[in-house]
Amino acid sequence: MSLPAVPRLGVNIDHIATVRNARGGKHPDPVHGAFLAAEAGADGITAHLREDRRHIRDADIERLMAEGPLPLNFEMAVTDEMLAIATRLRPHACCLVPEKREEVTTEGGLEVAHAAGDLAGFVAKLTEAGIRVSLFIDPEPAQVEAAHRVGAPVVELHTGAYCDAPDAERDAQFQRIVQAAKMAESLGIECHAGHGLDFTTAGPVAAIPNMAELNIGHFLIGAAIFTGIIPAVQEMKRVIAAARTAE
Ligand code: PXP
Repeated sequence: MSLPAVPRLGVNIDHIATVRNARGGKHPDPVHGAFLAAEAGADGITAHLREDRRHIRDADIERLMAEGPLPLNFEMAVTDEMLAIATRLRPHACCLVPEKREEVTTEGGLEVAHAAGDLAGFVAKLTEAGIRVSLFIDPEPAQVEAAHRVGAPVVELHTGAYCDAPDAERDAQFQRIVQAAKMAESLGIECHAGHGLDFTTAGPVAAIPNMAELNIGHFLIGAAIFTGIIPAVQEMKRVIAAARTAE
């Protein structure tokens, strides 16, 4: 496993599509956002094709694959429908996430330790299609071990509890991420992180030595409303790089 010197930044463009869909039509275009994120130095694009298509739509994924400027991390639920789309389009990576229709966002990690069904078989089918599979999990030792057991080469640690924690609890939440990252390293699993990260919370996570990638969406798209997407992504790249040079 070769780690990048500075964690990669994957820009999640889902909420460009949220704004587009609020009115229908084509504007703002998430694929155009992907090009601007690339211009600003993003290393990858993440997009989640939800079962209910509430933001990203099938045509967005088709276009990101056909003309997108960066490798696509395709976030998807563990369903036959998504497996068929992923194995047809063969994105660079697939991140398997839990999905509930009633949730506002992906509220917790995938239950790998007590997974119903054949998760190992699902991971194997994506892997056989040449796709790098990551599992979006809570930063829990049992989940990291289970990810290893089902053959995932990558885990993405859910940083939501850390980002949402009151100040007094934030360090304890951060330590859960540190410990899970250590366990991933000891098992030879590449470690990514995401959910709820902003200019303040991304730095400490980027400083974790074996952290290879951060996937950030909602905050960046929100910041882009005020500054434009290029300055927002550039600032996040700076925060991530500064965390490593400050080590
Ligand atoms: N990583 C995964 C697996 C996610 O599901 C999400 C949210 O869609 C993110 C990262 C990005 O989270 P946020 O939009 O809070 O930055």
